[in-house]
Amino acid sequence: MKTLTVELGRRSYPIYIGSGILNNLAQKLKDYRLTSKCAIVSNPTVYKLYGEAFYNSLSEAGLNTVVVLIPDGEEYKDFFWAYYILSKLLEEGLDRGSVLFALGGGVIGDITGFVASTYMRGIPYVQVPTTLLSQVDSSVGGKTGVNHPLGKNMIGTFYQPMLVWIDVQTLKSLPEREFLAGLAEVIKYGVIWDKDFFEFLRDQREAVLKQKEDVLIEVIKRCCEIKAEVVSLDERESGLRAILNFGHTIGHAIETVTNYRQYLHGEAVAIGMVAEAMLAQKISLLSTEDAEMIKEVVADYGLPISTGGRLQRAQMLKAMSLDKKARGGRIRVVLPQRIGRVRIQEYIEVEKLTEVLNSI
Ligand SMILES: NC(=O)c1ccc[n+]([C@@H]2O[C@H](COP(=O)([O-])OP(=O)(O)OC[C@H]3O[C@@H](n4cnc5c(N)ncnc54)[C@H](O)[C@@H]3O)[C@@H](O)[C@H]2O)c1
Ligand SMILES: [Zn+2]
Repeated sequence: MKTLTVELGRRSYPIYIGSGILNNLAQKLKDYRLTSKCAIVSNPTVYKLYGEAFYNSLSEAGLNTVVVLIPDGEEYKDFFWAYYILSKLLEEGLDRGSVLFALGGGVIGDITGFVASTYMRGIPYVQVPTTLLSQVDSSVGGKTGVNHPLGKNMIGTFYQPMLVWIDVQTLKSLPEREFLAGLAEVIKYGVIWDKDFFEFLRDQREAVLKQKEDVLIEVIKRCCEIKAEVVSLDERESGLRAILNFGHTIGHAIETVTNYRQYLHGEAVAIGMVAEAMLAQKISLLSTEDAEMIKEVVADYGLPISTGGRLQRAQMLKAMSLDKKARGGRIRVVLPQRIGRVRIQEYIEVEKLTEVLNSI
């Protein structure tokens, strides 16, 4: 098992990564001497696969636990279902010493973190991410939240978990498309922070795609390390943390224009990364060679690199200026300078952006 720490002073916490470790969490929890009733928050899809054994492992360790399930899907990551979970916790008499376990992907992690941050003014929660995206991204860093009809993730808190427990074996049951989408975020870490890691991904493609266990653990660990480092330097996204949004300005616009139906988040980010690399190349920030390399690696991982010209450019531009990361109507975008280094560009000529949007 690999361990690393997210260094945030009093709010620091460990991340554990291993294979087949899911039901060993109960042993680790002995260090925390929990006595209050706890809750597992999950959805029926994940609970059916892993819930019962996980629940039993907690019970055997002497933990009194209740299970709260919400339906499976991004559309349930909202205020109503957060309220539903809060109500269940009150009914079951959870108190300030209780801990929530978020067993599932990013949807479960985000809503559970949000609930934990508000239940009795904040109780601890443990992230037990079961998708690649949640293992390399959403479970680390303490952004919690729910969606509102007027915008995704618009209601939320910064609230760090007590620990993160990652079992790579849970990825075996993940649909391939979800796994690949998670890899887009993995590639992102290489581009924004670590050229060696990017090259490792390029060279180890087969092992990664085959989910070779030791390679997978290494990959997830490196992603968590990078995210942990960025978050520890800028917990509340006043600057640096925004680099994690590489590929996301255009990626979010693609998701908005397609009503979140056509592409998984990671797929939209994959196209976004290729497009933003192209943009960086157009303004002479990035070499053609590096832009091509980014595109090649994204494509080699079976991720989309273009929308096939089907999206309306005008709608895309509109979606971007409404993006919550756009300040004062200007389009803010994270652009690579070379593989392993990016910068936050505060201003982009609309013509250049339009040219890129025309070509994706
Ligand atoms: N908090 C953050 O920093 C952050 C960062 C990135 C994304 N997010 C959020 O994460 C969410 C997306 O997360 P996601 O991609 O994990 O989606 P998800 O949670 O919807 O999971 C995807 C699907 O896989 C299923 N699933 C989960 N684990 C499985 C397993 N082991 N085997 C089989 N099926 C499994 C889920 O039930 C779901 O149907 C979005 O709401 C997004 O806003 C948050
Ligand atoms: Zn993302």
